[in-house]
Amino acid sequence: MIENSTLVLFGAKGNLSRVKLIPGLFHLDESGQLPEGMKILSVGRQSSTQGEWENEIKSMLDKKFKKGYCKETFKKFIARNLYHANLPDDPDAFKKFASRLKESNKFAQNLAFFLSVRPTDFALIVDQLADENLLDQSSGWKRVLIEKPFGTNLESAIQLQQSIAKHLNEDQIYRIDHYLGKSALQNILVTRFANSILEPLWNNEHIDHIQITNHEMLGVGDRTTFYDATGALRDMIQSHLLQMMALTTMEKPESFSPNHIRDEKIKLLESIRPIKDGEFSSHAFRAQYAAGEIHGEGKVNGYLSELENEDSITETYAAVKIFIDNPRWKGVPIYLRTAKRLHESGTNISVKFKNTCSLIGDSNNWFIFNIQPGESSTIVLTTKTPGLDDQELRLTKLEGSNRIDGDESIDAYEILMLDLLNGNQSRFLHIDEVKAQWSFVDPIINYWTQNKEKLHQYISGSADPESSKVIFEDPSQFWR
Ligand SMILES: NC(=O)c1ccc[n+]([C@@H]2O[C@H](COP(=O)([O-])OP(=O)(O)OC[C@H]3O[C@@H](n4cnc5c(N)ncnc54)[C@H](OP(=O)(O)O)[C@@H]3O)[C@@H](O)[C@H]2O)c1
Repeated sequence: MIENSTLVLFGAKGNLSRVKLIPGLFHLDESGQLPEGMKILSVGRQSSTQGEWENEIKSMLDKKFKKGYCKETFKKFIARNLYHANLPDDPDAFKKFASRLKESNKFAQNLAFFLSVRPTDFALIVDQLADENLLDQSSGWKRVLIEKPFGTNLESAIQLQQSIAKHLNEDQIYRIDHYLGKSALQNILVTRFANSILEPLWNNEHIDHIQITNHEMLGVGDRTTFYDATGALRDMIQSHLLQMMALTTMEKPESFSPNHIRDEKIKLLESIRPIKDGEFSSHAFRAQYAAGEIHGEGKVNGYLSELENEDSITETYAAVKIFIDNPRWKGVPIYLRTAKRLHESGTNISVKFKNTCSLIGDSNNWFIFNIQPGESSTIVLTTKTPGLDDQELRLTKLEGSNRIDGDESIDAYEILMLDLLNGNQSRFLHIDEVKAQWSFVDPIINYWTQNKEKLHQYISGSADPESSKVIFEDPSQFWR
């Protein structure tokens, strides 16, 4: 049960708030999850009257819920929502904001600050909150949710941490990776630990390798400036894919309490073997999409012409090989790959089991967590093809959807906002996870930055580039 509290949403007029956060809060309200007295104070940098803000909320909901929504809930939701303009040219803006928020007859003093602002604004806003004594917990708990990315490398992540840790304890900081709010990711630990047919096999004795994949048919679209400064490795692998790997490979936690889960993820991420000098070209591969054809879109341009910069060495395809230095995973390569403009879209974790029977030759045996589209689990077995030929084998797929008709559909951000209000940090990143993730990714970025050669080009709409196979540990391995 959520204690009565106030959610303060910084960046309320930004894209994320409009598309996900405000509609998500409405959905939570509709399903009775928000406490009666809870207020949502939206903070933006443009002035708006309360009436204008209410109209803006209405248009956000109209866009999101095309089939309509409950008018009664709308009334209740609007009554919770207030707007505050933090005008950039007003030196007293934060003072005015603080004195409004401290009106305890209007706002419960358990305060959850959601910083849906650009990363360069995180530290400044935390400083300003502290200056106005808004992080002091004597009048109620104070929590701060920081959007991603948390830093752009290890050094900047440490700097951001040092800056906010002057005012906040670790248990007040909620660092987001919204993938952790996806129900398909929450399912990984349950599937692993609740099913005794899996856990005894989940180790280097039985597993050949693991592939964690996120492929998109989409290109970078109108995000060229953001993307060119970020690249596929930072955008997807640095947090989303490493978190998926941590959930897939961590040891069993003492309990499913937030701290125990995070402790095991930290241990796992800190056990990633650093890539040594001289190993980068066999542990990491990058490429860029060239012009081609995408099913449903027709002919599309290449990345460099979309960017209008032929010299960019930013990767739109990244694949890395990871080894975990612990007894369970010794010698098992884990491949993480992500790409834009491939022939298909999908996110999954594919676990390949070893060939165990020399009598049968090449067996193909996988357990797959399908994350999106569709949430399902698949087992791939090698079986005999019916008929006279005893040697003819084929693959049998046993696929089960994790969703059945009537299952609730909750957006990742809704779950994470509830966690924030409930004080549950298990689906948020501890600073040690962030540091371990950057410690793995930074040396690859540095190696790639120093190596200014033109990148390998793959045709839009094609499968993984052939040269990406350079990272495979064994020639028998192939991309699923
Ligand atoms: N959009 C997504 O789907 C998505 C996905 C993952 C992560 N994120 C992360 O989420 C954050 C927000 O993304 P976004 O796409 O919504 O960015 P955005 O559209 O640029 O919105 C940020 C908003 O914050 C406002 N702002 C800045 N300082 C403020 C302050 N002191 N008080 C109140 N408002 C302030 C900005 O106002 P001005 O315009 O006046 O500066 C702007 O309206 C970013 O950190 C991003 O990396 C977004």
